[in-house]
Amino acid sequence: VSTMGQDSPSSLKVATEPTFPPFEMQDQGTGELTGFDIQLMKAIGEAAELNIEFITLPFDGIIPALQSNTVDAAISGMTITAERAQTVSFSRPYFKAGLAIAVQDNNTNIQSFADLEGKRIAVQIGTTGAQEASTIEGATVSSFDSASLALQELINGKVDAVVNDGPVTLYAIKEAGLQGVKVVGELVTEEYYGIALPKDSPYLDDINNALGLLIQNGGYREVYQTWFAG
Ligand code: ARG
Repeated sequence: VSTMGQDSPSSLKVATEPTFPPFEMQDQGTGELTGFDIQLMKAIGEAAELNIEFITLPFDGIIPALQSNTVDAAISGMTITAERAQTVSFSRPYFKAGLAIAVQDNNTNIQSFADLEGKRIAVQIGTTGAQEASTIEGATVSSFDSASLALQELINGKVDAVVNDGPVTLYAIKEAGLQGVKVVGELVTEEYYGIALPKDSPYLDDINNALGLLIQNGGYREVYQTWFAG
């Protein structure tokens, strides 16, 4: 017996940090949330018969909000890590990503992660890029509220490199017309995005089942092609 109203599906509050195209961003015209994660989460909501209500938060505020049950879930290009999995639950992985190094177009001395030693690096606060940059010997790491601010710092010549999710940096350059920067070297890491939930969330199975269904019935593919058509 459900304690919810009979005719209203239960509503899921889903956190996201919407400055991360093409995964989550605000439509320039309408201001509405859009992107791969947003569309995927809406499809999951339909498949699982859950009403999705998005809540925007700074990226480093998302895990605390899950821990305090202020939100029911988060979809935010969030990498599944062992450290995070100690405090939140993750769905099955839904996207393969990894960190990439971006430098100014005319830079020739940085070609790999090893070349970042002693350099000035910009990252988005609370991200795996920030974590990875913090391990570099002698580097000066500056944190920004968004990946695009970190990239702007690089364009302005205030830092030597940005460590950020590869698909996001490449999208900024190739699709959003960001000028003056390039990606160098191999991906630094292999990472998988997952939907994060509070530990012991009652919604974990619903979300995993819905993701599985969408992967089988072509729904996932449709979302993928909307944002990564090639
Ligand atoms: N994948 C990286 C991480 O989990 C960066 C995610 C940033 N997401 C965002 N919506 N700003 O740390």
